[in-house]
Amino acid sequence: MTLSKPLPRTITLHNGVELPAVGLGTFRAQGDDARTAVLAALRSGLRHIDTASIYKNEAPIRQALAESGVPREDVFVTSKVSPYEQGAGRARTAVEGIMERLGLQYLDLVLIHWPGVSRVAPDSPLNAQMRLETWRELEQLYGQGVVRAIGVSNYEESHVRQLLDKAEVKPMVNQFEVHPRRQRRELRRLCGREGIAVVAYTSLGSSELLSHPVVQQVAAEVGRTPAQVLLRWGLQEGCAVIPKSVRPERISEWREELLLGADWALGGSHMAALGALEDGHKYCWDPEGIV
Ligand SMILES: NC(=O)c1ccc[n+]([C@@H]2O[C@H](COP(=O)([O-])OP(=O)(O)OC[C@H]3O[C@@H](n4cnc5c(N)ncnc54)[C@H](OP(=O)(O)O)[C@@H]3O)[C@@H](O)[C@H]2O)c1
Repeated sequence: MTLSKPLPRTITLHNGVELPAVGLGTFRAQGDDARTAVLAALRSGLRHIDTASIYKNEAPIRQALAESGVPREDVFVTSKVSPYEQGAGRARTAVEGIMERLGLQYLDLVLIHWPGVSRVAPDSPLNAQMRLETWRELEQLYGQGVVRAIGVSNYEESHVRQLLDKAEVKPMVNQFEVHPRRQRRELRRLCGREGIAVVAYTSLGSSELLSHPVVQQVAAEVGRTPAQVLLRWGLQEGCAVIPKSVRPERISEWREELLLGADWALGGSHMAALGALEDGHKYCWDPEGIV
């Protein structure tokens, strides 16, 4: 099947900032592996790097950003305030620390990593209070131009609604687990209605989905790799994707022209076959019980 137009390179956030639809994830990428991966991604033309303060890989990412020679304004860097950094007086310090360790004067996107707070029971009302305090600090940083966009991660419907009720600046992004086995249609609809862009994580099912027989069959039929099929599925569903690898040969499969190109697409029957894999399976942690 041929599309007349390629998929869009970027998703326009509700404040007009352009978020590249394909990025590199860096969870569990450490030291020289992280440096190599980020360099490979930038050399392959990817312009979105996803990290977090708990990934502890800011030094090698800083090195790769510098070594790549790509101008700062051409790269979109996302980071996240961890559950240890939530609360009044902490989030700002956390973001300043992230920027210092990355060697950046500003961040493109900062997310609250998790709706829960470290060392606070999941059912404690302190979670809601402290994540609102965190949000207020992110709103200030946004207002001061220190970060170009702010958002959340792992927010369920209840967390999103609660935030929308109190936010002065609406979140621009919610990053959560989305793949054919866990499609989160209701949460994505809520985000869509509210103008919150969805960044899908664990698109490859932490590598396990790559060997799923249906994914393999679709890949064989469209003449692409299983990773390209899973990422294209997420992109055609309207999400941004941030697959992770530390291997340059795998990262080069995710070049924008390969994933977004008009020379192929997943047609109705392939989208339906992948859509039928829904069983709610989670490869990552579950924020559902956090109040
Ligand atoms: N906000 C959050 O709470 C949250 C949670 C999870 C993830 N994320 C973000 O999303 C990113 C992606 O999610 P993820 O890392 O959980 O999972 P993923 O992208 O679904 O899978 C990554 C795994 O797949 C392997 N892999 C990649 N390409 C492969 C290939 N062609 N063949 C075989 N194995 C392959 C990688 O190994 P190699 O590295 O050895 O290639 C790695 O172990 C993360 O890195 C992080 O940036 C955010």
